Amino acid sequence: MRAAVVQEPGETPVVADHPAPAAGAGRTVVRVTAAPIVPLDLLCASGTSYFGRPAVPYVPGVQGVGVVESSTTLTAGTRVWFATSAGMAPGDGSLAELCAVPDADVVPVTADVPDAALAALGLSAVAAWMSLTWRGGLRTGEHVLVLGAGGAVGQAAVGAAKVLGAGRVVAVARSEESRARALAAGADEAIAPGDDVDALTARLAEATGGRLDLVVDPVFGIAATAASRALSPAGRLVNLGGASGDVAEFSSAVLRAKSASVLGYTNNALTVEQRRDALTAVAEHAAAGALAVAHEQVSLADAADAWRRQATGDPGVRLVLTP
Ligand SMILES: NC(=O)c1ccc[n+]([C@@H]2O[C@H](COP(=O)([O-])OP(=O)(O)OC[C@H]3O[C@@H](n4cnc5c(N)ncnc54)[C@H](OP(=O)(O)O)[C@@H]3O)[C@@H](O)[C@H]2O)c1
Repeated sequence: MRAAVVQEPGETPVVADHPAPAAGAGRTVVRVTAAPIVPLDLLCASGTSYFGRPAVPYVPGVQGVGVVESSTTLTAGTRVWFATSAGMAPGDGSLAELCAVPDADVVPVTADVPDAALAALGLSAVAAWMSLTWRGGLRTGEHVLVLGAGGAVGQAAVGAAKVLGAGRVVAVARSEESRARALAAGADEAIAPGDDVDALTARLAEATGGRLDLVVDPVFGIAATAASRALSPAGRLVNLGGASGDVAEFSSAVLRAKSASVLGYTNNALTVEQRRDALTAVAEHAAAGALAVAHEQVSLADAADAWRRQATGDPGVRLVLTP
């Protein structure tokens, strides 16, 4: 089969012939129709992640959408979303014509949402959904702030916050294009972060109307510092990424004065059932037109170029390979 193959950690994958995955007990083989390239794919393939250096050669891609080719639990032809542990454990991922995963990592999808649109949402939207609900405990009417709102997690968080009944939803994103994506996702207001914490804190207080209950933060750094200062009493900041850096400063006085919470989140802590239910909810809301991530379809043959675009950190839209 054709696949994007990482030959050496840190190098861009090349599209080449690669052994097709074997069927087997407890495994589902999926014919891939859409698979996104996400930050986690690049992190794993770099060889510098906390998962360690991946065994090479391997096919990257931690998720995808497709149709069951063979399975011990599902009928051939079933439309599915699936997750892989490519780059985190030995084995191949989704950036290929075929992919085999444990049966438990396959979620049948009946919602009427195009494959590429669902692939673009995928684990980014699961993370946004579960940060708001399970980790962040969002309640109806609460004010939500989404940092990095022009990215896939950010757009999904903005849309999900609205779906889940948030009151005001404010977005922070760097470029005009990012802010336009956040507004298209449903944000009530989108502001630029700038690089001055005090100025951003003041802008956040104004934009949130003086009430901020929950922050979804894939960015960290000064934006997270400012967001923590703008939190209301009993406010929560859920961090799920460090796109701007691995360190942020939090004031003890700020946190204890408000009984505020700073929480970490990872998709890897979800049970199979939590991930399945979140993905199903996301797919249903996407089918209803309430959740989307801006994306661009790219042929598998152009995987190397797409990988390099994602490596810039700001591809503009989620790149989805369509084998
Ligand atoms: N914990 C989890 O389970 C989980 C799950 C999914 C993703 N993540 C993490 O969340 C982060 C965002 O993922 P994504 O899929 O949304 O990425 P993406 O679609 O590629 O978008 C890039 C994101 O990073 C932001 N960004 C990039 N460089 C930045 C910088 N120098 N300063 C500030 N912001 C910067 C962008 O902000 P703008 O909007 O301002 O352009 C945008 O939000 C990544 O670190 C990813 O690893 C974590």
